[in-house]
Amino acid sequence: MYEFSDRVNNIKPSAIREMFKLMGDPEIIAFSGGNPAKESFEYDTIREITTDLLAGEPSNLLQYGITEGYDPLREAYIKHILEPKGLSAGLENILITTGGSQGLFISISAFLNEGDTVLIEAPTFLGTLMVFDYLNVNCVSVAMDENGIVLEDLEAKIKEHNPKMLYTIPTFQNPTGYTLSLDRRKRVAELADEHGFIVLEDDPYCDLRYKGEALPPIKTFDKSGKVVMLNSMSKIIAPGIRVGVVVAEPEIISKVTVAKQAIDTHTATLTQAICAEYLGRGLLPGHLERTTPMYRERLDTMLDGFKHFPSEVKFSKPEGGLFVWVTLPGEQDVDDIAKKAIAEKVAFVPGAPFFNDKSLAGSTLRLNFSASTPDRIAIGMERLGKVITDNLK
Ligand SMILES: Cc1ncc(COP(=O)(O)O)c(C=O)c1O
Repeated sequence: MYEFSDRVNNIKPSAIREMFKLMGDPEIIAFSGGNPAKESFEYDTIREITTDLLAGEPSNLLQYGITEGYDPLREAYIKHILEPKGLSAGLENILITTGGSQGLFISISAFLNEGDTVLIEAPTFLGTLMVFDYLNVNCVSVAMDENGIVLEDLEAKIKEHNPKMLYTIPTFQNPTGYTLSLDRRKRVAELADEHGFIVLEDDPYCDLRYKGEALPPIKTFDKSGKVVMLNSMSKIIAPGIRVGVVVAEPEIISKVTVAKQAIDTHTATLTQAICAEYLGRGLLPGHLERTTPMYRERLDTMLDGFKHFPSEVKFSKPEGGLFVWVTLPGEQDVDDIAKKAIAEKVAFVPGAPFFNDKSLAGSTLRLNFSASTPDRIAIGMERLGKVITDNLK
């Protein structure tokens, strides 16, 4: 009845959103989402900060602001998040965005024309694949292992395709939970320098580490300004506040700022101010100290639940983030297994939607452990183990 643009017709509906429609049933144990634990939300703190912020009736918090973002947040982000990671920056290196998602959209649209080539991890974040579809960008998949992008394949694909950009989620990747090793981080930055492509380093999970040692962002090895780093408050404060950050060279920040201006003028000042206070009052370390043991317990409960699965099933063992990636042996109909799992009141997302090239998907699936309590995770894994055992061909 309506003639929609090719742009929106190019986007495939998100498989996860389709799964969400089933989530009305409280009996279903949902390993299918990507939400942080609702128990992690600091209601009292956010209420107190908001009351304090509005006490003097400051008109700037309810008035239009500048596109670059609320200065106290940009300053607090540099001091409390970037500097502890070994990154120095000035306000000219920072743009505040409406969630990390907007940082993705504007950074990709600032660099890539229709038909340009981007190298992506296989698998990768579904939301970014939707942006690539929307902008009609040519995606070339690069192989991954448990240490992130496989360098030999990356170098081969760089030579073959001369890409304009590499998109990577280096820490506790969505969907695999894999983390790019230190050596590979250094080499990725060198390759960008040598070949002149942009690295879009999307790192919203880096602070959700439950085990092991923190790794420096790829951006810390960036000698020629080729790395654009994206971050988000979604997983460390709350996703509903919709605050993200782009960190890049001033020339890049100017361009992505223009792209953002065309979309929404600026990110909501009130939620930016809440984040600025949250960081400025030094509340993030305490919050992470409280939430890390909770997430560690959920992760360990999920990993322990694989005792109910056939031994040929492989799974990632992340040290943080929100996801575990599962590979079933042989060729399985994972969509059919997902339907059978729902009938047994447990949900997951099949792996295929996370691949641009579906032929690479194999028999994979993603499990989220952050949004369920340990007792529900234990029950869910037992149910899922049984469904998978009964359905392996
Ligand atoms: C890898 C990755 N990047 C970016 C985002 C976007 O997050 P938000 O827009 O909530 O900040 C997500 C959300 O799940 C993600 O997994």
